[in-house]
Amino acid sequence: MPVCFDEEKKVFHLQGKTFSYCLYLHPTEGLLNLYWGSRLPDGDIAYLLRSYWTAASFDLPPHRMPTELPTRGTGYFGTPAVCAQTQQGNDVTRLTYVNHRICAGKRKLSGLPAVYTESDDEATTLVITLKDELTGLTVEAEYAVLETLDALTRSLRIVNGGKERLTLTHMQSASVPLYGEDYELINLSGAWARERQVVRTPVGRANIRVESQRGASGHEQNPFIALVKKHTTEDCGPAWAMTLVYSGSFLATSEVNNFYNTRMSIGLNPEVCRWQLDPGEEFQTPEAILVYSAEGLNGMSHRFHEIVRTRIVRGAWRDRVRPILINNWEATYFGFNEELILKIAKAAKEIGVEMFVLDDGWFGKRDRDNCSLGDWVVDRRKLPGGIEGVARQVNEMGLRFGLWFEPEMVSPDSDLYRAHPDWCLHVEGRARTEARQQLILDLSRKEVQDYVIEAVCSVLRSAPIGYVKWDMNRNMTEYFSGDQTPDRQMETQHRYMLGLYRVMEEITSAFPEVLFEGCSGGGGRFDAGFLYYMPQFWTSDDTDAVERLGIQYGTSFVYPPSAMGAHVSACPNHQTGRVTSVKMRADVALGGNFGFELDLNKLTPEELEACREAVETVKSVRETVQKGQFTRLDSPFEGNNAAWQFVGEGGRDVVLCAYQKMAVPNPGCHRVFMRGLDAQARYRDAASGETYSGAALMNAGLPLRPARGDYSSWVYRFERV
Ligand code: GLA
Repeated sequence: MPVCFDEEKKVFHLQGKTFSYCLYLHPTEGLLNLYWGSRLPDGDIAYLLRSYWTAASFDLPPHRMPTELPTRGTGYFGTPAVCAQTQQGNDVTRLTYVNHRICAGKRKLSGLPAVYTESDDEATTLVITLKDELTGLTVEAEYAVLETLDALTRSLRIVNGGKERLTLTHMQSASVPLYGEDYELINLSGAWARERQVVRTPVGRANIRVESQRGASGHEQNPFIALVKKHTTEDCGPAWAMTLVYSGSFLATSEVNNFYNTRMSIGLNPEVCRWQLDPGEEFQTPEAILVYSAEGLNGMSHRFHEIVRTRIVRGAWRDRVRPILINNWEATYFGFNEELILKIAKAAKEIGVEMFVLDDGWFGKRDRDNCSLGDWVVDRRKLPGGIEGVARQVNEMGLRFGLWFEPEMVSPDSDLYRAHPDWCLHVEGRARTEARQQLILDLSRKEVQDYVIEAVCSVLRSAPIGYVKWDMNRNMTEYFSGDQTPDRQMETQHRYMLGLYRVMEEITSAFPEVLFEGCSGGGGRFDAGFLYYMPQFWTSDDTDAVERLGIQYGTSFVYPPSAMGAHVSACPNHQTGRVTSVKMRADVALGGNFGFELDLNKLTPEELEACREAVETVKSVRETVQKGQFTRLDSPFEGNNAAWQFVGEGGRDVVLCAYQKMAVPNPGCHRVFMRGLDAQARYRDAASGETYSGAALMNAGLPLRPARGDYSSWVYRFERV
């Protein structure tokens, strides 16, 4: 059984394929967390209580003990998991156990993205109800054990069962105490064009916050943290990891207390979210996904990838191979007309590309990024036949047609803004801070949501559009709403996200055949929440192949290759000025949803031929790349080489990608050591016909052919024979 309760020992034992998570009902100290780690045969773990004594000391039991749901004002001194302020102005909260229930399946979270199941036998749910007797605040802590996927989800449903309004000030989706202090924290930090760089820091004796207050999960930090031991590597050692299924501001913490124990947590960011809960009302937190791996960081990522690919991503495109596309952004920016678009599409068709995507600039009077967002009406100066005309002609060439939108935004210079100046996030009487000369529509308002739904749907109805790139190019300022009372202003960021999720749900379910790709100045909202609505995301505006090694490597800590958009763009690269070969660019882009972002008509015949070859290679490997198991081999953050591999479903097809950044004079030979192959089987290299045993490829390694010049790459396709 994935969830057992031992009445006598008072232990809840939650068990996945390889992990156990054990809670204990203490007679006086409430719900404690005694263990999260490798799977135990049973829940006989209450003896660990000996490590925490409750006798009088300067520190009170809530701080000394491994409290599962720490609150404030009763002796816990870290970041509380739950805290509610009363009308009297204090925020003392004391939660005591009321009851619990265990049931098959997993509940849908209303209005929020979450891991889903396709049948009740995929999950077992434990709900533990706790209550603050004085205020009537009731917290249902919900755990779903996904036994086969080997993960746990956690969220809170908070109900005001009292007679007075309460203000929720803290509502962490998960907060887990771990034994000991000798951990290292891994987070994915970055900026525009440098997303998700892997950072590893000893936690020391300090509290660390990984957060976003931007109203988006953001470029700066991803909603993910892992605690690992010093000896944890990609392939061995323990990792405890959390990601939040949410696209807005978040807070993740790692805190070490004065008894040398560590706590990790993740949830909404209390700096920008406080929620008024009237009697009878309830609040649902976003969901956190918790993964424990005893097999290092690759083991952690394998679990996250499987969950995100199969039980976060939904819809027709979940299991379909993704089309190879060409996007005109870096080819033309705003300077295009129908003739140029069709010329780019035609050249793409000739080398086997399957879809053309028209990016920013097709609507209003948008010749620059200073106007027209919100006016989703085609610009007939550029496209006299409208979107319908250009889409039809692209279709006639045998390509699908895709279109860019930035639906959450409004330009001050737009008909929409002139008609509804109050529809953006703002504070009355204050200047409205513009970023990229645009403001954010207030999606916490129903009428604004309805406008956006209709604006996008009417374009999608008007033409044969098979793909949408959904962009969002600034973060929130003045994140308040003209539609809310003063006491509810701090709800605006979260209400915006709920509104956005409604908008995306309506649009994506009205057009189930359309492939949606998220984007936010590149990868500024790359999170599991967004992937619930849109199966892929533009990984970064940085299309430089060498930079992309790190960005894609870091992104893969949580998200599978099938979620990452990756394109071959022009050289010198528009972000870095670096010059790399088409082969290097293509071999890096092959590690995600492959596409082009340049004008093929401007390439030399040799470069065009390299693009044609790349398309052929991608077509032969993309099933393996998108559905196989992805494993990181050599880290671009640690040296001159990078490598990763994909093992297809069933283990027959294997793709190995290796890269070298800078040329090395008089080099030694670099070998790549593969992982997860069948040691006894033999694998044939499709190019040379040579065969190797799985054991040799993993233990002796594969020597790379020597390279000359900077920025080299190798792609091997193996078949198990
Ligand atoms: C963002 C996206 C780009 C492109 C531009 C268009 O920066 O990340 O890919 O779509 O917007 O303005």
